Amino acid sequence: MTDLTNRVEWRTLRENAAALETSSLRRLFEDDPQRFDRFSIAAAGLFLDYSKNKISAETLANLIALARATGLEERRNAMFRGDAINETEKRAVLHVALRAGGETDYAAEGEPVSDDVAAALSRMKSFAGAVHGGAHVGRTGKALTTVVNIGIGGSDLGPLMAVEALRPFWIEGRRAHFVSNVDGAHLSDTLAACDPETTLFIIASKTFTTQETLTNAYSARDWFLANGGAEADIAKHFVALSTNAEGVKSFGIDEANMFRFWDWVGGRYSLWSSIGLSIALQVGFDNFEKLLRGARLMDEHFLEAPLEANMPALLALVGVWNRNFQGVAAHAVLPYDQRLHRLPAYLQQADMESNGKRVALTGAAVAHETGPVIFGEPGTNGQHAFYQLLHQGTDIISADFIAAANGAPELGDHHEKLLANFLAQPEALMRGKTDGEVRKELQDTGLDAAEIDRLAPHKVFPGDRPTNSILMDRLTPETLGALIALYEHKIFCQGAVWGVNSFDQWGVELGKALAKTILPEIARRGEIKPAASAHDPSTNGLIDRINKMRADI
Ligand code: F6P
Repeated sequence: MTDLTNRVEWRTLRENAAALETSSLRRLFEDDPQRFDRFSIAAAGLFLDYSKNKISAETLANLIALARATGLEERRNAMFRGDAINETEKRAVLHVALRAGGETDYAAEGEPVSDDVAAALSRMKSFAGAVHGGAHVGRTGKALTTVVNIGIGGSDLGPLMAVEALRPFWIEGRRAHFVSNVDGAHLSDTLAACDPETTLFIIASKTFTTQETLTNAYSARDWFLANGGAEADIAKHFVALSTNAEGVKSFGIDEANMFRFWDWVGGRYSLWSSIGLSIALQVGFDNFEKLLRGARLMDEHFLEAPLEANMPALLALVGVWNRNFQGVAAHAVLPYDQRLHRLPAYLQQADMESNGKRVALTGAAVAHETGPVIFGEPGTNGQHAFYQLLHQGTDIISADFIAAANGAPELGDHHEKLLANFLAQPEALMRGKTDGEVRKELQDTGLDAAEIDRLAPHKVFPGDRPTNSILMDRLTPETLGALIALYEHKIFCQGAVWGVNSFDQWGVELGKALAKTILPEIARRGEIKPAASAHDPSTNGLIDRINKMRADI
């Protein structure tokens, strides 16, 4: 495989970057009144404006040429075909099959999967129907109105984000909680608000080996048994979502209460599978299907549209431009929508676990930057926290601004104010404020020349900060589905261009293994432990200090 940075397209893009260096986004807008039309696109109920990135038509053409040269389209087709494109784990990557709605037949490495997907969805549907309709009740015959989803990473972040986003669609009287952290506070605080007679526990774990999830699951079971439940009642109050039938059985959950999925569904791409059961229980199966339908619309667009008019590919390519040719190392996700408050956390896993890689598929170290740091908060809150650095910091940070034109509810003029901020921030980041503009403003306030000289540098905004704006009519299950699929495919495209495997996550293993070694070295409360010696002096020292604090009770 050719080193990406030696490709002619890469070198041309470097030249483009050098040529654009002396220009500015302001200038690019002045020079081309068509810029907004040229660099915006609508698909699957979403509208993307990427005109506030420092690109020219030529840059974009070269980025698309780079995508073609690196085989993005072939890799996309291979994914949809069910080839084992997750090469280090020898697995197909077929989350698109989960939302095909029976319209396309998919096969993972030649094995048809669509019937299994349909059967799994149909089980979820009847289970949700039984819980909602009262055919499946708790041990005392009461309706199961509370759900506690116990999972972490992909078995938590997606469902939690979607449930929060879809609050207007919640079924009245139902409440879903999510417990992920092994910190006992998370489970204890959640259980304090639960009634054991009306609570359904969903143990969500693709592997069913994850330390945090199993620890929380065993403690939840202990709580259930200590609060009136008997072993025989567990089947009524515990279900599992997993690919590991043996693991589920050994935990004590009957296979009849297991909702399965498959190893070709990556953890961080799994909310469309049985892992979405908490979503279906909270918003109803019909809304869960609408979520799948929204994603399907984006899948179809991604598969069929040429790269020049392909929303996920374009979003990915401007990201590649910013990361590799504009020196942008961090990317902010800024939903101007309180209900999307968990989207940044969700995308941190989706993006950073997928593209935070330093070797290419070949195993050779890459010679270019890969995934950026992803962070974010809902607007307008972030404006009063970290936007100072976005506007005037020494690093250039790119950002996605996301909003719905219509809010729910439309309370007074809240939504107009939200939208005004959604529009103002990218404009400010793009335009900035020049020294001349600042001085004029200060003169107009009557300040003397010395004071103007003193203050002006602090009030200048360099501008030229790249942003995308993603707009939808309103946040619904369909538009949410399309939005998530947009990001999934964006991440895919960037991984394809960078030549990395976006579907493994070996980088999480080392810390997990070390935690297992350290666990027996941590003192139980009041226990005296010998001095630690198996680690580096810092880790040994910290273990000893912790153990001393735990012994002194
Ligand atoms: O530690 C990372 C990870 O493997 C994620 O990729 C995954 O989403 C999460 O742990 C949870 O895994 P599981 O669903 O198997 O419990």
